[in-house]
Amino acid sequence: MIPESFIQELLARTDIVEIIDRVVPLKKAGANYAACCPFHKEKSPSFTVSPSKQFYHCFGCGAHGTAIGFLMEHQGLSFPDAIEDLARHCGLTVPQEDNERAFRKPAAGSEEGPSLLDVMLKAHKYYRDELKQSPRAIDYLKRRGLTGEIAARFGIGYAPEGWQNLRPLFPEYDSPAFQTLLKAGLVIENDQKRRYDRFRDRVMFPILDQKGQVIAFGGRILDQGEPKYLNSPETPLFEKGREVFGLPQAREACRQTDTVIVVEGYMDVVALAQHGIGNAVATLGTATTTTHIRKLLRMVDRVVFCFDGDAAGRKAAWRALENSLEALAEQKVLAFAFLPPEHDPDSYVRDLGKEAFQAAIDRATPLSEFLLQTLSSHVDLTSAEGRAKLLAEAKPLLQKIPTPMLRLQIVKQLADKTGLQPSEVERGCELSRQAAHPNNTPVRAPRHAPSILRRLLRVLVQAPELASTIKPSLTNALPTNDPLANSLNRLLPHLATNPQPSELLERLRGSEDAPLLAEIFASLLSEPLEKDALSAELAGIVAQMERDQLDTELAVLQQAAQRGSLSAPEKARYAELLQTLQQLGRTGRRR
Ligand code: UTP
Ligand code: MN
Repeated sequence: MIPESFIQELLARTDIVEIIDRVVPLKKAGANYAACCPFHKEKSPSFTVSPSKQFYHCFGCGAHGTAIGFLMEHQGLSFPDAIEDLARHCGLTVPQEDNERAFRKPAAGSEEGPSLLDVMLKAHKYYRDELKQSPRAIDYLKRRGLTGEIAARFGIGYAPEGWQNLRPLFPEYDSPAFQTLLKAGLVIENDQKRRYDRFRDRVMFPILDQKGQVIAFGGRILDQGEPKYLNSPETPLFEKGREVFGLPQAREACRQTDTVIVVEGYMDVVALAQHGIGNAVATLGTATTTTHIRKLLRMVDRVVFCFDGDAAGRKAAWRALENSLEALAEQKVLAFAFLPPEHDPDSYVRDLGKEAFQAAIDRATPLSEFLLQTLSSHVDLTSAEGRAKLLAEAKPLLQKIPTPMLRLQIVKQLADKTGLQPSEVERGCELSRQAAHPNNTPVRAPRHAPSILRRLLRVLVQAPELASTIKPSLTNALPTNDPLANSLNRLLPHLATNPQPSELLERLRGSEDAPLLAEIFASLLSEPLEKDALSAELAGIVAQMERDQLDTELAVLQQAAQRGSLSAPEKARYAELLQTLQQLGRTGRRR
């Protein structure tokens, strides 16, 4: 955990304009800065950066956030990595509250020992040097059609035969600092406490993180042997469900094509690059996770899965589909390319060439089609039972899709297949008419006039010091079935600490109130409130809310009165209310 006070200090010392301007040149536009949005394609700038509030917002696609959020979205950094990046930038050291990030530091008990990243780097250099010494490994790579240039591009190496080749390299092998090598997954210790290298006689593929640091290895046996591929275990550096192979190498080609191709194997990525298809990455012997997809969709608008043509490949594709649904966002396209059963991407591109492979990618099956095809293929659509089964199987999948447009398309096709109305499909699958809004879909400002609570929030986020002037009786009495009122009540304690806008945004990162907050801040960018008018605006809002509350109370009493069920004190209150409202010059309910 990074202490909140540190994040606060970091945000206070950082200038978001400078951070963004380094990668997206900004132009001054009134009080703010503007540029064409780096998160979607546009011709006129709707990406706005506020120096006073220290956040950015795109009026085109809804992307928004603080300097931390920008680094995460634009560079694809994790939250801790974004913090570290900013900290380095302003000369601060991230305090370590627990062991979570201890891998950045020497292992416990060895003050001067190397960090996990250090040992991975050193091992990588060794494996690369060893490849140059091994005609057998070089020959293997050549036979698989790789040039020295591509091998270098992917940092491919070779771990020679032998049990303790790393021993002369690392003094830690025979010291307490051995734990670091163990933790890095490079060395294994057996029950007899004998220590030996994990990777022996294998072609080594380094797995790099976003910054290009070696965090793991995959090793392929030369020729025959089990297992064919041996991967690093999960370590503090390496979480399989987050990482893909080949990302730093693919980044530029992904940017140019706005597409990433996801394949299953190390050799698929490397062989595709060898044939001029640079935008492929591989999952690491695991199913594609939602985290993988989110990470890739931050970088490009189109993800094409290209799995082997056999049954296992189809199964893997279906798993990928299931895990992708939650990560879908408007304007993002997911598709599935299926190769002939006898091929994987490596053999396909080698046998049939770049153009044939590219054509397979271009005619990939869109996610919606793959979903419907697969579901309908194992039910009998001529029977009522079969159609019911189709709906039952579609239900959990549809419920995961956050994008209303795409979901509606699928609903319509399902309706066609089952002979129902789309609305019946929606009801049958228990889909709310209004789609759940996912974290990554922009929340657009409503077109109608902002409600009173929205107006209140607009004032309070701009001038949180005024929050303490609001009487708790006023906000406590708000209806509990009003999401906006509930958000307000949750936000008030935060506002009471008088946070800067960016600090507030970071504190509520990922919370259910984050989308509302982003929307309020966006409205302040397009229609700023005058500083001098804030108190007066607040007084007006509070007066109106008080009047609304009296109105509500009156309405309840009026209903009871019509039923003739008012008690004596209620009658008195009724009379009192009527008088008060008359004095307030009641103009009817204005919500
Ligand atoms: P495949 O068995 O399809 O191998 O595994 P491949 O990519 O075609 O390999 P080559 O062409 O024979 O060299 C696909 C991926 O599954 C993981 C690896 O990530 C591999 O690239 N895998 C496979 C393992 O992790 N361990 C294994 O034993 C096999
Ligand atoms: Mn293969």
